[in-house]
Amino acid sequence: MGKNQHIEFSNFYASDADTTLYKQLLTAAEQANKKIEDEAKTDNKHLGWVTLPHDIDEAMLNQIEVIANRFQQTCDVVVVIGIGGSYLGTKAVIDALQPTPFQCSSNFPKIVYAGNNLSADYLSDLIDYIKEKQFGMVVVSKSGTTTEPAISFRILRQLLENKCGKEQAQKLIVTVTDSTQGALHTITNNEGYDTFPIAKNIGGRYSVLSPVGLVPIAMSGINIRELLQGARDAANNTSPQTETCNNIAVQYAAWRQAFYANGKKIEILANYNPKLNYISEWWKQLFAESEGKEHRGIFPTDAKFSTDLHSIGQWIQEGERTLFETVIQIKQANHSITIPFDENNIDGLNYLANKDIETVNTAACEGTMRAHASGDVPMLHFTLPTLSANHLGALLYTFERACAISGYMMGVNPFDQPGVEAYKKNLFHLLGKPGY
Ligand code: PA5
Repeated sequence: MGKNQHIEFSNFYASDADTTLYKQLLTAAEQANKKIEDEAKTDNKHLGWVTLPHDIDEAMLNQIEVIANRFQQTCDVVVVIGIGGSYLGTKAVIDALQPTPFQCSSNFPKIVYAGNNLSADYLSDLIDYIKEKQFGMVVVSKSGTTTEPAISFRILRQLLENKCGKEQAQKLIVTVTDSTQGALHTITNNEGYDTFPIAKNIGGRYSVLSPVGLVPIAMSGINIRELLQGARDAANNTSPQTETCNNIAVQYAAWRQAFYANGKKIEILANYNPKLNYISEWWKQLFAESEGKEHRGIFPTDAKFSTDLHSIGQWIQEGERTLFETVIQIKQANHSITIPFDENNIDGLNYLANKDIETVNTAACEGTMRAHASGDVPMLHFTLPTLSANHLGALLYTFERACAISGYMMGVNPFDQPGVEAYKKNLFHLLGKPGY
């Protein structure tokens, strides 16, 4: 059990064997966390994200806000082009925090996404949606050469230039990429686009709190300073200087490794709020790309409850016992909706009349956790007080830290992704790219 101003963490259910192993593994988790801190002081390759929330400077934040403001004044829609770590964190935060997901806000542009697939149908639908609107683009690619976003950018750039002319289009495109190399860097220089750098020592899946996420998140109207404040607090709360009884990242990593060593090969991240669905997508990438290598690693997947209680809920309750579950719960919803009294009561719901729907949601969460525990599913539990930028920033950072600790405990490099290259090579070969 650990607690700070943003997150409460506990193990809701674990077997005696898991608990014994967890206690033994805490020392290894502490050592891994210390290693991360020590290496972050000297390593120029992978650990830039460790101190990023503290390092990002005021000048950069101001610049991001100036560009975000310009896009807010001129665009009804912003297309964020990117894939993997260059898109999932942005979508995770915006989906979680945007106040008007079902409609366009009059103050802020609607954020849509491209470059994360190669579907002609998807892109065609997107083009139909944006072509008559005032739209701009944020193009995010660390390497600057990833095929999916590069193709989308080429197509959408031509659409924008044909619509409003090259000069006007130039003001409606901002890039986030390596500051010294890559095709996107070269295009940026040639065309004179506004641009933000991706630090060389921050990998895609650890980059949401860098300009990769902050630029489009700021455009959506979300307060990036609050997001960063939460992350800064989490950086302090998860450092080796925070005692282990309060260090959620250390505890979470130790529990994961205890379950894994005891045969639990699958981790399900469950939520009870659709606004968190892309937090799960981002989390899946973070853990899968960091740990899934050398024929090892916990398989990270997710459950969207209540929806999935009526599908994979059956498997969780009674299927093969090789999983554990990590639940994210929001204590206090931002809205309240009361279930009304109905004179006829044909649906039999009057026993819930005048109750808030979130009371029912909380009961569903508690009831499900108890049911899964009785089905022998080990269970971890994260609780945020509310869904706010502050708390979300803390959660994202805490997951990054726990992931790095967990990867080090497993003895893999949590910062590379050699397996992702295999499909790319085949794709290039099949398409006849020169040199493949
Ligand atoms: O985490 C990672 O490094 C990857 O998921 C990348 O973010 C993804 O492959 C996109 O790469 P790039 O930003 O170079 O286009």
